[in-house]
Amino acid sequence: MDAFVNGINVHYSDLGSKDDTVVLIHGFPLSSEMWNPQLKMLQENHRVIAYDIRGLGKSNLGDSQYTFEFFVDDLIGLLDHLKIPKVVLCGLSMGGYIALRAAQRNPERVAALVLCDTGPQADSNEAKLGRAASIKSVKMNGVKAFGEKFLKAVFAPASFESKLGRIDETRKVIEATSESGICGALLAMATRTDTTDGLTSIAVPTLIMVGELDKVTPPALSELMHARIKGSELHTILRAAHMSNLENEEDFNENLVRFLENLRI
Ligand code: MLT
Repeated sequence: MDAFVNGINVHYSDLGSKDDTVVLIHGFPLSSEMWNPQLKMLQENHRVIAYDIRGLGKSNLGDSQYTFEFFVDDLIGLLDHLKIPKVVLCGLSMGGYIALRAAQRNPERVAALVLCDTGPQADSNEAKLGRAASIKSVKMNGVKAFGEKFLKAVFAPASFESKLGRIDETRKVIEATSESGICGALLAMATRTDTTDGLTSIAVPTLIMVGELDKVTPPALSELMHARIKGSELHTILRAAHMSNLENEEDFNENLVRFLENLRI
């Protein structure tokens, strides 16, 4: 389905029919398809919305010039469109950056948070230069070459044997993405604000999960969030790097289901 939000069509799926709603926010440069291993089990007991961030998946590209605030505007715009006052936000990596900023900007819309392989810090100078190098590489060498490098950075070496199917699916999603969509998201991430100071103000149940081998947003970032978000839970996902929901979906799903069930009590 598509919702016309902030001048573009945002593509989303709306599954399940229960009252409590979980919104899944995917990572860069992927799409809502990355949540396939979670969708079936979540929709049995919850309403689940999985959408594509602008410029990625099946959402419109617009003019491909975005700041990070656009991504939060689109999330809130989608909730307004669907007339849902409050949701559980579950974001992985860039999706987690969006969830953290939404929790700071629009706390009234957030019932609980699930922060996966993510962190609150804005880009350092080094990280900004990394974004610049990635943009150059996408423009010079194309999406395919960028995708191969990205896959090696986000999946654990062992996953290239045990989770090859998941990696192939992820590769297909990246290769279907436009250069402008990828560069737009890279520029947007470089404009994001630091949400560290807001962590101590988060007053909703929060589950933090991180792959033990995550090198993009290492476990230390999750420990920092856990130390500052009052009452938060932290789970390290074994045998997983940055794509913990795909690399060890059993452990990831078990923790997610238990957390969501406890919210109802
Ligand atoms: C992601 O997985 O969403 C990105 O790698 C995050 C980032 O580049 O900061």
